[in-house]
Amino acid sequence: MTEKSIVILISGRGSNMEALLRAKLPCRIAAVISNKADAQGLETARAHGIDTAVVSHRDHADRAAFDDALAQVIDHYQPDVVVLAGFMRILTDGFVNRYMGRMINIHPSLLPAYTGVDTHERALRDGVKIHGCTVHFVTPALDGGPVIIQAAVPVLSDDTPQTLSARVLHEEHRIFPQAVRWLCRDQARLDANGRVCIDRIEQLGSTLISPGLD
Ligand code: GRF
Repeated sequence: MTEKSIVILISGRGSNMEALLRAKLPCRIAAVISNKADAQGLETARAHGIDTAVVSHRDHADRAAFDDALAQVIDHYQPDVVVLAGFMRILTDGFVNRYMGRMINIHPSLLPAYTGVDTHERALRDGVKIHGCTVHFVTPALDGGPVIIQAAVPVLSDDTPQTLSARVLHEEHRIFPQAVRWLCRDQARLDANGRVCIDRIEQLGSTLISPGLD
């Protein structure tokens, strides 16, 4: 199998991107692209010797024009997989369809619960006892694409959005490299029915009961 290449899109801190850079993935990281010139993650990528590019949404009249410009930069690198790692722009259907089955996103909730923003605040407000994160294929439905892998964490009675977010982020950094690894090894794909297939011997995850039993 020839080595696959990926392009990572970010908008800010880039800690998930960094988790991918550190994971020694079986692929080439061709470029990191941001819609914000001051995204902290761009510095990190440069320090790792990875090509970076900025496509600012502010330089384009509308979403379609921005997405066209972004697609041009992505396609220059001819990636097999496009990885959204904290990329905070809503993408047009045209853009999503162009990369269907080869574009994934990490989201800080157990989808389909809490699509959109402020997921930790909303989980705390609802009093749920289990929260988490999801890696999914990107489809036109916002945060609605087929799930590849999820991690659950307990919600503690004294959690703040910050403490809960830190607990979730720790798991994001574990499941995201796993999902990218599966894609790069052709072990995970979207089938014709829009369902995720993962070729490997199924491993049982662990049960989380929260709060724990006495
Ligand atoms: C993460 O929580 C990710 O799930 C969400 O945006 C945040 C990005 O953080 N989509 P980072 O830039 O990867 O540190």
